[in-house]
Amino acid sequence: MGYDGNLTPLFDCSCLPKRSAPYTEFFGQDIIAVSQFDRRRLAYIFQRADEMRDLVTHGGVSDLLRGYVLACLFYEPSTRTSASFIAAMHRLGGSVIPITQGVQFSSVSKGESLPDTIRVLEQYSDVIVLRHPDVGSAQVAADAASVPIINGGDGIGEHPTQALLDLFTIYEELGGVDGLKIAMVGDLRYGRTVHSLTRLLLQYDVSLRFVSPDTLRLPLNLMNTVIDSGTNVRETDSVYDVIGDADVLYVTRIQKERFSDTKAYDEVKDAYEITPALMRLAKERMVVMHPLPRVGEIHTAVDADPRAAYFRQVRNGMYIRMALLAAVLGQA
Ligand code: NCD
Repeated sequence: MGYDGNLTPLFDCSCLPKRSAPYTEFFGQDIIAVSQFDRRRLAYIFQRADEMRDLVTHGGVSDLLRGYVLACLFYEPSTRTSASFIAAMHRLGGSVIPITQGVQFSSVSKGESLPDTIRVLEQYSDVIVLRHPDVGSAQVAADAASVPIINGGDGIGEHPTQALLDLFTIYEELGGVDGLKIAMVGDLRYGRTVHSLTRLLLQYDVSLRFVSPDTLRLPLNLMNTVIDSGTNVRETDSVYDVIGDADVLYVTRIQKERFSDTKAYDEVKDAYEITPALMRLAKERMVVMHPLPRVGEIHTAVDADPRAAYFRQVRNGMYIRMALLAAVLGQA
């Protein structure tokens, strides 16, 4: 039987419950770079993240994002970033299209362009998290999209949501940021988490210490930005130069996948290892952070040290991502 146009409608849409009117200043915005966050906006996200922590730790249930769909599009490997966005969405009652491990099984492997993939996914979803190997890819996606794009890491460029959770962790662990001595250790050249966190920290009155092998120093343009900001900064290749004085030791992995030359990687891969012996030289209230994964740069014996904050940092990531998703979807 053909469609005669006289069927009874399945729904009377006029009486469907409507989403509440959006009312956050982040509503509809992309999250591409940390430059979008001044201290007032940071305070809002951190306050919301604190509320999300209360919700989760008190076993609360929320349907703040019920009916919303997040698409997670990951062209590079990820455990934490993808899992924490998925967990964040689920904990707020929303749902997820995960294209995380299987980009090779998606139309991307057929040669589909990033803007086309984004235009397709936005037909199904209200917000998209993108991780991609090319610097600037998040902006390319944002230019194509009409839903918010959240940058989950664009090559060696930025990783703004990681920087937000890193800064939030410093607040949570040490009660504030101004006045701190923060040392970053490891792959400062390719480490996008270091690039984003450094930019964010320039809004504070901090001292920065960059510890890396010569070949993995902070990119020159970023170093110049740090110097121009008037921040107290030093570079060294020895962690012993900073360990006694640091309030935060932000350790990073030497990222094998970013090297085109294996020999160059082999020369630096074991440059640093944080051990219990080294920790004995550190302040009693210092915190050790790491975006993870680690591959030997922090000895597992350090995990039991109360100053080891990296697993608490992971949990903070979920609260920050809950806050960000709610904010860009306009649900305060
Ligand atoms: C980092 C990343 O992907 O940039 N991890 C993360 O997001 N937690 C750091 C890394 O891969 O070493």
